[in-house]
Amino acid sequence: MYMIEAIDLKKYFSSGIIKKHYTKAVDGVSFYIERGETLGLLGDSGSGKTTLGRLLLRLIEPTEGRILFDGIDITALNRRELRRVRPRMQMIFQDPESSLNPRMKIGESIAEPMKLGLNGRLSREQIRERVLELIDIVGLNPEHLNRYPYQLSGGQNQRVVLARILAVNPDFVVADEPTASLDVSVQAQILNLIKQVKIEHGTTMLFISHDIDILKHMCDRIAVMDRGRIVGIHERADFADIPGSRHDGYQKVMVEGT
Ligand SMILES: Nc1ncnc2c1ncn2[C@@H]1O[C@H](COP(=O)(O)OP(=O)(O)OP(=O)(O)O)[C@@H](O)[C@H]1O
Ligand SMILES: [Mg+2]
Repeated sequence: MYMIEAIDLKKYFSSGIIKKHYTKAVDGVSFYIERGETLGLLGDSGSGKTTLGRLLLRLIEPTEGRILFDGIDITALNRRELRRVRPRMQMIFQDPESSLNPRMKIGESIAEPMKLGLNGRLSREQIRERVLELIDIVGLNPEHLNRYPYQLSGGQNQRVVLARILAVNPDFVVADEPTASLDVSVQAQILNLIKQVKIEHGTTMLFISHDIDILKHMCDRIAVMDRGRIVGIHERADFADIPGSRHDGYQKVMVEGT
């Protein structure tokens, strides 16, 4: 059984008040991700990568098609059932601040998923110990725990996001350009941290990027997306055959994200 399987997935956005227009953001996509595998998703700006990532976690509703998560058809689940599956799937966004509560101290933020008891009940003391363990794993110091997200750098906040994710230990993670908003000097550190975490926990991942070199470094296979469709999936052995990705737009995204 695959960790993730998408079957003829579609997402059409409607716009236009008088005359209806449809943006076919995702237009009939089928693929799978094996347990523990990292699948890369490469494509130009607007090709539908983020929409596909959000669909897989059912953060948005598909227009058509099915998503099997560990054999469970999550498109058929009601809200209550979905809530039970949710902790097993997480998303890392380009802009770490957007996934952190600005009014929560870093320490509270990391402890929150454990307090919700998503992975069994822990005592206050156990949670405290685990938080200290987690910030050490992601390369932060105990002194960061009493700060707020605005008091940390983008790279440090992305480390907080990773610590939170580790606290939940999900089976599947969608990482959407997780380093695109970061300083080039910090990008490699965060990428290596994601890779290390992933290997240690056997996490299955969809890794979205414009940058073919980042994907080659991070992924077992790379899917190429173009105008809502997957136009090819490449194994490691034929990464060299992937059509050169256009890099226009990438700079823009980096600037917008900062
Ligand atoms: N909520 C929405 N409402 C209407 N159209 C949308 C919405 N979200 C995305 N789109 C459209 O769907 C298409 C795909 O967008 P998406 O964000 O998935 O692309 P992307 O590949 O992630 O691009 P980028 O590399 O710039 O992040 C675009 O044409 C976009 O304008
Ligand atoms: Mg995107």
